Amino acid sequence: MLIGATSLTVALTLLVPVLAAPWQRGHWRPAGAPAPAPAAPAPAPAAPAPAPAPAPAPAPAAPGNNAPQPAGGESHNVEIINRCGAGNPVFVAQGAGERGPGLINGPLRGGVAYLSGYKDCAANGVNCATVEFTLVNPDAGGAQNSINYSLLDGMDRIAKTGLGNHKYKYPMFFEYTGGACTAKAPGACTGQSAAQCPGAFLGDATEVGAPVNCLGANAGIRITFC
Ligand SMILES: *[C@@H]1O[C@H](CO)[C@@H](O)[C@H](O)[C@H]1NC(C)=O
Repeated sequence: MLIGATSLTVALTLLVPVLAAPWQRGHWRPAGAPAPAPAAPAPAPAAPAPAPAPAPAPAPAAPGNNAPQPAGGESHNVEIINRCGAGNPVFVAQGAGERGPGLINGPLRGGVAYLSGYKDCAANGVNCATVEFTLVNPDAGGAQNSINYSLLDGMDRIAKTGLGNHKYKYPMFFEYTGGACTAKAPGACTGQSAAQCPGAFLGDATEVGAPVNCLGANAGIRITFC
């Protein structure tokens, strides 16, 4: 019994400072990160991780970039600036649902950017003016980057499907960023006509517009609404 009690006392004497240490450390650094989780028994070495995104391109209006970081492979930054005072800048792409601007890993095909919730703008840019883009690194198959204004409306004459009821709703502009691409739209899109929206696809004339193409790796896009 005596040995047992002594051992217990010794054990407690040794344990108390060990147990207290992390608790005290946790309370001695209130100036730093205010402990992400109240119960953090581990020293949490990964605490200073929430780096505010590396932002490869100047992103004045990019809200939360929650995209995965580039792992050295193909990546494309999508920047969407909204100066319209309403609506939420978003895009959809092949194999990806609606999301905000940010960095995309891998090729980005069939991108459609618009202001969600602006007047009657609906999912996929239906009822709305859009900037459409494909950002892909060049390959042996002739892949290239391509961007266009789309105000397509009515029915596709061949597929007999609706083209999205796209209507001019706000001024638009686009330009390449990053990579070897520096091309821009031939002009701002300021209305529902070829003169006001240079290069745009209008009405049901899916073959009449003029996309701005570019060959270059890891090209990004900056779209400005209003
Ligand atoms: C506009 O660009 C998108 C994305 O690259 C493309 O899918 C679409 O075919 C282009 N529009 C037209 C009418 O060519």
